[in-house]
Amino acid sequence: MRRTRLVALVLVLALGLLAAGCLDGTETTATADKVVGVLPTTTTTTGDLPALELMGDAAAGKAVFTSQSCGSCHVLAASGTSGAVGPNLDESKPSTELVVTRVTEGKSLMPAFGETLTAQQIADVAAYVSESTGG
Ligand code: HEC
Repeated sequence: MRRTRLVALVLVLALGLLAAGCLDGTETTATADKVVGVLPTTTTTTGDLPALELMGDAAAGKAVFTSQSCGSCHVLAASGTSGAVGPNLDESKPSTELVVTRVTEGKSLMPAFGETLTAQQIADVAAYVSESTGG
């Protein structure tokens, strides 16, 4: 008699668990397994620095450096300038990319020339500065 009652109790408990969805194994979790949208394939953006797309002419860039008075703020031995407001370009040896970025956008005391110079002039002065400093 006692044993039958115990078995009945266990059955009732098991049914209760099943009804609650704990033992039927159909529980789902919210894990994302799919990326929606398009992932970028390139990491460089040159949209706002058009001069990066152009070949600079260092000889033409020398004239830009002089006419824009870059030398009033920068040391550049190739132009014989000794400005001390900005970095000494012979020492910092900037890459063409850095010259294009600074000249186009400016930074702190460095004025932006993106509105006053053409993309070609910026590419030229960048070629001149980086070639003459070995940057
Ligand atoms: C009014 C002064 C001034 C003029 C004019 C000026 N610059 Fe600058 N330039 C600066 C200053 C200041 C910085 C430093 C900006 C910073 O990083 O905070 C700088 C930074 C730079 C840099 C980055 C150097 C480095 O190693 O970080 C380059 C390259 C540069 N200038 C090129 C030029 C060129 C080319 C011109 C002319 C088209 C020019 N600059 C005109 C003041 C000037």
